Amino acid sequence: MSLVENLSRWMHLLFGILWIGHLYYFNFVQAGFEGKLAADMKKSVIPENRPRALFWFRWGAMWTFVTGILLVGFNYHMNRANLGPDATGMAMGVFLFPLFIYFLYDIVAKKVGGGPMSMPSLAVNLVLFAGYMALCHFAAKLGGRALWIHAGMAFGITMMMNVWMRIWPAQRRIITAIKEGNAPDQADVALAGARSRHNTYMSVPLLMYMFAQHSDGFYNAAIGALGNHSPLVMVFVTAALGFFFANLLYKKAGQLSGF
Ligand code: HEM
Repeated sequence: MSLVENLSRWMHLLFGILWIGHLYYFNFVQAGFEGKLAADMKKSVIPENRPRALFWFRWGAMWTFVTGILLVGFNYHMNRANLGPDATGMAMGVFLFPLFIYFLYDIVAKKVGGGPMSMPSLAVNLVLFAGYMALCHFAAKLGGRALWIHAGMAFGITMMMNVWMRIWPAQRRIITAIKEGNAPDQADVALAGARSRHNTYMSVPLLMYMFAQHSDGFYNAAIGALGNHSPLVMVFVTAALGFFFANLLYKKAGQLSGF
């Protein structure tokens, strides 16, 4: 079992890098570079370049998810001590919740307007995320490590669903239009761009949530009067810090140019 667990962990990291590496390439390199191409160059370069990158991107997302679910099974549900000393029966139920929350997130992103990075959408998403974290902390009573991995899963599963349900279908239509010499549907361009941008923002705190087990002090340190609620509060501090760092990366990417 330990061999399978370690293989899953190794593959999880490999596929995670494959996925998030391409996500950063799209957002911090390709977006700026393609904007500089002349129309006839776009028609020949994009249908050759994007499908290759999107292949590694979407299958990286799928296998990161699959190996991540295996790790939840091995490290938490077959090793219940990692759920925390006070974990209740609800701990078994909360881990696939983000799949359902995604459909609410998707409705909010469409109905509220401005995509998932608009202020109203972010506010509703914060409420959804806070509700899920409250369920994990107060009802399932997960310990710090398990709470943080559930925060990471909420972001990771939302990101994986964005890739397969929104970004990839929209990109297929966009690339086909460009290859045929037509202007892509602007609604598809806006949809793929907004979800990709939101994924980039979520990926930064996600990294900390995922490997937080190795920085125990960070989430388990009791902060004053917060006591055993500290891991919950630190989840939100980390999300805010992560969004801030992602914003810095976008700013830098916007300043870069070719020779
Ligand atoms: C798609 C949804 C994802 C799920 C369901 C998931 C689930 C998990 C689980 C259950 C663990 C084990 C944590 C533990 O043993 O305490 C883990 C670890 C980890 N995950 Fe994810 N994960 C996902 C996405 C990602 C992504 C996108 C990355 C980015 C590279 C990533 C990077 C990591 C890292 C670095 C670790 C720590 C491995 C270690 O320290 O041994 N995960 N993940």
